[in-house]
Amino acid sequence: MANLNRRLAVIGLGKLGGLLAEAFVARDLIHPDQIQATVRHASRAEALDQKHPFSVHTDNLAAVSKADIVLLAVKPQMMEDVCREIQSEVRPGKLVISILAGVTTESIERIFTNGVSVVRAMPNTPCSVGCGMTVLCRGLSAAEEDVALVARLFDTVGRTLVMDERHMDAVTGLSASGPAFIYVILESLAEAGVKMGLPRDVATLLAAQTTKGAAEQVLASGAHPALLKDEVTTPAGCTIDGLLELEEGKLRVTLIKAVVKAGQRARELGSKD
Ligand SMILES: NC(=O)c1ccc[n+]([C@@H]2O[C@H](COP(=O)([O-])OP(=O)(O)OC[C@H]3O[C@@H](n4cnc5c(N)ncnc54)[C@H](OP(=O)(O)O)[C@@H]3O)[C@@H](O)[C@H]2O)c1
Repeated sequence: MANLNRRLAVIGLGKLGGLLAEAFVARDLIHPDQIQATVRHASRAEALDQKHPFSVHTDNLAAVSKADIVLLAVKPQMMEDVCREIQSEVRPGKLVISILAGVTTESIERIFTNGVSVVRAMPNTPCSVGCGMTVLCRGLSAAEEDVALVARLFDTVGRTLVMDERHMDAVTGLSASGPAFIYVILESLAEAGVKMGLPRDVATLLAAQTTKGAAEQVLASGAHPALLKDEVTTPAGCTIDGLLELEEGKLRVTLIKAVVKAGQRARELGSKD
């Protein structure tokens, strides 16, 4: 993968900021010397600075002043304070990428006021293993090339899709929160294996590989999941008995409601800015 030859500031080297910076470095997209990352607490900055090949400190303005790309990765509630703090160094020509749930490009542009390019990205934690899903949308002043550059970054850690911003809260509920929902399903499948006498490590492997295989089949075939489900379901066989239990336990409606709630919460977080 060719180096982007851009300097990156990661403002908020938490879970997502951290795994993205690590992934960009691991894939040779950005050299560690070209990254400056920040956190709020000095003690944490010190520990992270020891751990990472790039510099980690608490000076947001200094990090942004040296960067071509600014990745905003703090909590949505911190957006306003952090943007005001770095405002003087976010000059036109720099590119701001925000991964903040619920925060619109317009609310960020409103603070910077100088027509700086803002691209909103909604990634998920499987980016850490190169199997992420990221949806992008662009702010008013961002050009197609800015979106293409951000897509190049996120393409290295999974799939990337560009969508209209009005879909971003739904995206947040589905693919950004989604891994947590899948982990609960996966953990439950493994527990079932344990209940039936399988060793836990075997049960977890079976559950994870089955989840991965089913997902790969959907992606590879493009088939409706219901058709693939029918292929597993032999008349009067075992699977239909299990499916009836799922229907009785209202798994479908529960998952639908979980995604809708997570999306609504994203909207709520954004509206507080
Ligand atoms: N987690 C996910 O799966 C996911 C998925 C998609 C998008 N997102 C979005 O990603 C963002 C970060 O989420 P996260 O889960 O990574 O949260 P997190 O682990 O809590 O990370 C937030 C980071 O921001 C730092 N921070 C707080 N105030 C700061 C300031 N004033 N200046 C510089 N750094 C500051 C914190 O530093 P300290 O540690 O010193 O407090 C922490 O390292 C959120 O906006 C979220 O909506 C998350």
